[in-house]
Amino acid sequence: MEFGIETWIDRLRDARRVTVLTGAGISAESGVPTFRGEGGLWRTYRAEELATPEAFARDPGLVWEWYDYRRGIVAGAEPNAGHRALVELEARVPSFLLITQNVDNLHQRAGSRAVCELHGNLFRSRCTAEGTTRDDLPNPLVEIPPVCTCGALLRPDVVWFGESLPVEALTTAGREAYRSDVMFVVGTSAVVYPAAALPERAAAGGAFVVEVNVTRTPISSVVDVTIPGSAAAVLPAVLDAL
Ligand code: OAD
Repeated sequence: MEFGIETWIDRLRDARRVTVLTGAGISAESGVPTFRGEGGLWRTYRAEELATPEAFARDPGLVWEWYDYRRGIVAGAEPNAGHRALVELEARVPSFLLITQNVDNLHQRAGSRAVCELHGNLFRSRCTAEGTTRDDLPNPLVEIPPVCTCGALLRPDVVWFGESLPVEALTTAGREAYRSDVMFVVGTSAVVYPAAALPERAAAGGAFVVEVNVTRTPISSVVDVTIPGSAAAVLPAVLDAL
């Protein structure tokens, strides 16, 4: 079912609980490559050679070089108007949670506070022996692969293919999606589970679900409204209309 903005913006005005699920598309206009679209990382690189536990066991240096390259891209990028609109939305609704699949830290750099990271963060690393995390590795790395003070290898604190999502983040995301009055789904191809199930979870709990994307996705037919357009253009416009 499709509504014009004037028909559904009241839902947002009345909403007490708002959740937002973001994917790589929201950072595209900051110059950070997405995964599956034109110029997407998985069009150039093979995920199984770079983003799996097996790849890391085989060649930790190669995996770290790839993450160091991505850290470099993101460190040189700035949050865009889409990220900033979500900071403002957070300030304007009583209860807000930003659930992101992104590991680029741009939401936090923009100023978002309630951020639930489903796939980890490029700027955190984790000890493969102790499980402790840290966010103080130099950028770019001076030692590849980096090691912990305990002597074991560090790994990027991100979720790789074949790994489970952090339990607490996923539990929080599922609960808040279900409780939300409005959910925005922004810049995600909605093909990677379990994150892709969150819009349906929100709908099951009675939320009005609004998708913002430059293309149609598998969830376009199940959401209440799809706003075609870039996140950096559409989200500020939604805020203006609020
Ligand atoms: P994808 O690359 O799969 O999808 C990006 C989505 O953003 C596509 O639907 C594009 O149409 C849309 N898009 C591109 N530019 C946009 C713009 N300016 N404004 C709005 N939408 C735009 O990225 P994700 O859905 O985030 O997982 O991918 C999900 C997961 O797959 C990632 O978190 C990553 C990847 O493998 C892990 O690394 C675990």
